Amino acid sequence: MLTDLYGNPHSENAPARLSSNVVEDVRAKTLDFLGANPEHFDFVFVANATAAIKLVGEVFRDLGEKTHSKSFWYGYHRDAHTSLVGVREWSNNQSHCFESDEEVEEWLRRPATVDVKRPDRHSLGLFAYPAQSNLTGRRLPLEWAGHMRHTDDLQNTYTLLDAAALAMTFPMSRVFSNPASSPDYTCLSFYKIFGFPDVGALVVRRESGHILSLRRYFGGGTVEAVGVIDDVFHRSKGQEGPDDKLHEGLEDGTLPFHSILALGEAIDSHKRLFISMEVVSDHTHYLTTRLQQGLMALRHYNGRLMCQIYHYKHPKQDDVSVESTSRHGSAVAFNIIGYDGKYVPFTEVEEAANQAGIYVRSGGELGNARVNR
Ligand SMILES: Cc1ncc(COP(=O)(O)O)c(C=O)c1O
Repeated sequence: MLTDLYGNPHSENAPARLSSNVVEDVRAKTLDFLGANPEHFDFVFVANATAAIKLVGEVFRDLGEKTHSKSFWYGYHRDAHTSLVGVREWSNNQSHCFESDEEVEEWLRRPATVDVKRPDRHSLGLFAYPAQSNLTGRRLPLEWAGHMRHTDDLQNTYTLLDAAALAMTFPMSRVFSNPASSPDYTCLSFYKIFGFPDVGALVVRRESGHILSLRRYFGGGTVEAVGVIDDVFHRSKGQEGPDDKLHEGLEDGTLPFHSILALGEAIDSHKRLFISMEVVSDHTHYLTTRLQQGLMALRHYNGRLMCQIYHYKHPKQDDVSVESTSRHGSAVAFNIIGYDGKYVPFTEVEEAANQAGIYVRSGGELGNARVNR
């Protein structure tokens, strides 16, 4: 940045071409970092994970409006981040929140037997879930996308995986290694992995890209041509078939090319410092296990436990706590309990932790509602 001039990539002048080259190089490098083969996956730069989710939601809303029921169907898992939950507002009340993994699995096995408030199982649908729960840190099954693809009744239902939390400490090649069973759309946020820069991505399985190419909105950079007076038309980029550059029709406005340049540097530095995501995964797993054991050992003077830790327990499996990296991420969910057995409010816990230089993510529930901080 000190020695070169980078211009708006939508032109053909030399500074613009320099930016375009950087953007394309970093696109390829990031796909490589994620273990996603560009032959099978396209990569769309967006502002953050929420923007990627909104982009997918927007297209399904547009397409849904053209259908018989005037809307797409939206299913989401109860562990979903708020940004996933918000998409339900575009589904004209045709949405369902899955209360558990077992309910999802039953629906995947026998879609007709589970009431998911869907007028027609064959209508356009989107199923979204977080790859890692922000509440408990548990990792949800990655196999669901593949199962859905093999379920006759769900051929018109697509998967949106929120990998924002998972990607921080997980080798994403395990998500993308087999395109046949990968999610259709996966969202990510890079500052969560590298600390900097603040950009996100939507990774699109090319076979499922045609849906996104039907988006109605167009903006600077996403159209080949547009007519405004008399001949009102537009020709969107990236609509030429599965092998074309789908991302060109989805990246609205000027890309944050300086941040994208920094993303390339972040990937190189990350590799130099940490070698690979497998190493990061092993190390954070070790730290998480230590933290959990340490918290569980804390006692008040009267012998009472100081911490209540929340694990997810699948009815058909042993208590998974943190022992497996495929089942649990680098987060420990807990409540602090006073010597009198009463819960200490999370506001107090966070304040005390801050004062001690320990940063926790806190929140709670009010009835059935979440309270975010
Ligand atoms: C699981 C999960 N999904 C989505 C998001 C939203 O990400 P962003 O802030 O990049 O939009 C977050 C943010 O913390 C998250 O933890």
